[in-house]
Amino acid sequence: MALQMQDTGEFKLVTRRKKRVFSVQNSCDPNVILFDGNDDSDADTNYEALFGKLLQAETELRNSLFGDDVFHYLQDSLRALDVDGISEILCYGLGHFSRRKCSKYQLALLLSLKNYYGSRVHIYDPIFTPKEIYLLERFGFNVIKINEEGKRVVQDNVTLVYMPHCSLHLTNNFLYANWSEKLNKCILLTNSFSVIAANFIKANTCEPVDYISRIQPYVTEIVLRNNFMYEDVFNDLNIHIFLEQNIDMVPRSFWNDREEPCYRGATLDYFTAKQTERIEAKNCRKDDET
Ligand SMILES: C[S@@+](CC[C@H](N)C(=O)[O-])C[C@H]1O[C@@H](n2cnc3c(N)ncnc32)[C@H](O)[C@@H]1O
Repeated sequence: MALQMQDTGEFKLVTRRKKRVFSVQNSCDPNVILFDGNDDSDADTNYEALFGKLLQAETELRNSLFGDDVFHYLQDSLRALDVDGISEILCYGLGHFSRRKCSKYQLALLLSLKNYYGSRVHIYDPIFTPKEIYLLERFGFNVIKINEEGKRVVQDNVTLVYMPHCSLHLTNNFLYANWSEKLNKCILLTNSFSVIAANFIKANTCEPVDYISRIQPYVTEIVLRNNFMYEDVFNDLNIHIFLEQNIDMVPRSFWNDREEPCYRGATLDYFTAKQTERIEAKNCRKDDET
């Protein structure tokens, strides 16, 4: 079984065996609705053909101006942080790379980075299909089994956190989980923090993504030109680093103020652990009944 994101932004759970589909609105109070639907999982896609297409996408990415820029600015970032490599990559929210162009090229970048830096890759998206998981494992990635809601605590190693076009709440959760001076071990390749802040000011809203807002003055953001051949693949993604001299300016009490984010009342744009558990449990029950 697998979760699929539809063009409407709705999530749909697909079970191949029973050709049954559960749909869930991605809101903070999800109502799981059962309805009949076509099993449009990628059952007929040829693994080898898909594997080949991904390798080809990786070559295209590596030979692109955008690929050059990413590697160039990552090297600059590593120099500025006084470290010499990226040993871990954590990736959330890649999406359906077997059928969506954006996700395919975002995966191509991930493969390129893994190959270049020899990094271990930890990856999670609740909508991955079994076939996608198989391919990710074939690439040597560690596919995370549970929905961490973005709250994985990184170890002392230099970690690239790659969250292409991911929910702001997930990014906020990641910062909360790693809220300490050790953030300077992280390089974030995520939606631009400065664009997020500017959008809040423009919309005159106060979104509950407190950790992003609080850290923003201490972040060094490296702007990536959106010069990839498809402009919707990497738009608005920038590199964010936490330089020692900036982190040193942060008052000590800053890190102590650390409450678990609570998005009550907000429209959540990510899958919570409860949602994924509930859908999986419901599907297991249905499987037992038949
Ligand atoms: C806006 S889509 C971005 C997809 C793709 N990266 C792109 O740029 O088109 C957000 C992605 O986050 C994923 N997501 C939702 N909840 C998540 C969670 N708890 N952990 C990791 N990823 C999650 C969704 O399944 C979806 O693939």
